[in-house]
Amino acid sequence: MIQKINEWFFLLVDRYMHARYGDRKRKLLKDHPDTVVEIGAGYGANFRYLRPGTKVIVIEPKRSFNELLNRRARYYGIEVEIHNYGAGTMNLKEESVDMVFGSLVLCSAENPVKVISEIRRVLKEEGKFAFLEHVKAERDTWICKVQHIVERPWKWVFDGCHVSRDTGKVIQNAHFSKVEMQEFESRTVFVPIIPHVCGVAIK
Ligand SMILES: C[S@@+](CC[C@H](N)C(=O)[O-])C[C@H]1O[C@@H](n2cnc3c(N)ncnc32)[C@H](O)[C@@H]1O
Repeated sequence: MIQKINEWFFLLVDRYMHARYGDRKRKLLKDHPDTVVEIGAGYGANFRYLRPGTKVIVIEPKRSFNELLNRRARYYGIEVEIHNYGAGTMNLKEESVDMVFGSLVLCSAENPVKVISEIRRVLKEEGKFAFLEHVKAERDTWICKVQHIVERPWKWVFDGCHVSRDTGKVIQNAHFSKVEMQEFESRTVFVPIIPHVCGVAIK
């Protein structure tokens, strides 16, 4: 039941997400290769930022999104290959992928360190991991305090989402050859997910 509510929630806020993140996502995906891997694609919020004709290998554990993913892929002229499992172990060959993309997903992954290590495994040399994630607030700030208070109920309501995960640090520590990361605050009414990072990590 919670999962269904969550899925409808994402559809309802699609416009909102596009307004908040659209420009940054477009920049991250600029000049993307003809085939990209997207982890945690959900219902396909990011298809609109891809060139028609792009092939997306979607790694999305929830089968319940498949119908929406296929529908949106047809709408945006995208070819999809859907893998219904978590990105901690991907059925993709080592060094076979030019670009992996993920937005607002490492907050929900059970083991983000494992996911990033798997991303590095499948990326070719100099391949890119483009990301946009909400993150833990700076210590002793009011947002940090709010995150601490709401952490448990938030996780329950938003399907395992951790509001105070230091995802930026996890990416910095993941042994990429180069990480270009920007911190930004989203102008959102959802206070616990104001602090964000986005950028590109190069293998
Ligand atoms: C908050 S939604 C984000 C959806 C979409 N990327 C967006 O930006 O709107 C998080 C998504 O990550 C997926 N997810 C959770 N754990 C995952 C994992 N280990 N590997 C891949 N996807 C995962 C969830 O099923 C969900 O669809």
